[in-house]
Amino acid sequence: MHENPKLTIAIDGPSGSGKSSVSKEVARHFGLAYLDTGAMYRAATYRVLELGIDLNDAEAIAKAVKEMPLVFGTNINEEEIMMGSTDIREEIRSERISSAVSAVASVPAVREYLIGLQRWTIDHAVNGMVAEGRDITTVVAPDADARILLTASEEVRMARRGLENSEKSGASGDLSKQIAERDAKDAKVNNFMEAAEGVTLVDSSDFDFNETVSAVINAVNDQLKAKRAG
Ligand code: DC
Repeated sequence: MHENPKLTIAIDGPSGSGKSSVSKEVARHFGLAYLDTGAMYRAATYRVLELGIDLNDAEAIAKAVKEMPLVFGTNINEEEIMMGSTDIREEIRSERISSAVSAVASVPAVREYLIGLQRWTIDHAVNGMVAEGRDITTVVAPDADARILLTASEEVRMARRGLENSEKSGASGDLSKQIAERDAKDAKVNNFMEAAEGVTLVDSSDFDFNETVSAVINAVNDQLKAKRAG
């Protein structure tokens, strides 16, 4: 019997579910690399804005994304996101990018290109990878060894996200509205609010960070055990 020694863990969820920090901790626990696909869409958006492309021009957006000089790391201990020789790790988290990213991520040719890049990255991980986003469990890696949908109630998500952003920028106010709008736009592209068949739902509404990480690790182990038994 051939056994794949590599482990691929797919984690999806809406913004504010705690996905990124939880996914990193899960990667650390299993000794895996980590792929933040949202950061890839954000980097693509950075490039589109850098070139001054109209957000309604899908063709120009797709061309810019396919040609972008992106360098994207997958080491949990050392985030690396470069556009050419520019370090864009901080800039891609800015409001300027957050408010434009859904427009870029909804261009089909952009998704096709970045999904290809994400699959290539997952395939080339030496020990395996935790990949997180909105469509990893369903589109990018539906055959992953373990698949999790991480959610939290809307109230809890807004509170977490508001806290995260107001710490960075001092802003709050309209933030909940902006995030709700972005989730609504993104949800038209992928359904990341309901677990697809074979995907375990982890609701972190009543969990703190460590409890959420433990719940995801337990769900991964349960799926791996069930696969081995089956
Ligand atoms: O997780 P995030 O907030 O950094 O994601 C940024 C945007 O990228 C989000 O608004 C939707 C999009 N995205 C996507 O369409 N598919 C993914 N797999 C990940 C993110």
